[in-house]
Amino acid sequence: MAEPLAQEDQIKEGEMHSYNTRIGRVALTRLNGKICAFENTCTHDGGSLEGGHLEGKEVVCPRHGARFDIETGAATRMPATESIEVYPVSIEGGEVLVDLDA
Ligand code: FES
Repeated sequence: MAEPLAQEDQIKEGEMHSYNTRIGRVALTRLNGKICAFENTCTHDGGSLEGGHLEGKEVVCPRHGARFDIETGAATRMPATESIEVYPVSIEGGEVLVDLDA
């Protein structure tokens, strides 16, 4: 079941926001108008991605520079080799709903 994490108008292009959820920290951002939700923990060494930054459609881990595609979760730069999770997003009544079980 999708869970509300934020108000749609809080999520701006190029900004990353992180939320506590029942499965851990989940990050939201807006990419080309579309809101994306992804796991906030780097698969290299467990670093938090929320101190990192966004470059195009990639999030860059602040610890050792690994990158992940925020639409697919794929690791796109070493030292990470495993994907992060990404979650389906829907908008209802101005709320951002994230399916954490997908
Ligand atoms: S913990 Fe993210 S690159 Fe090492």
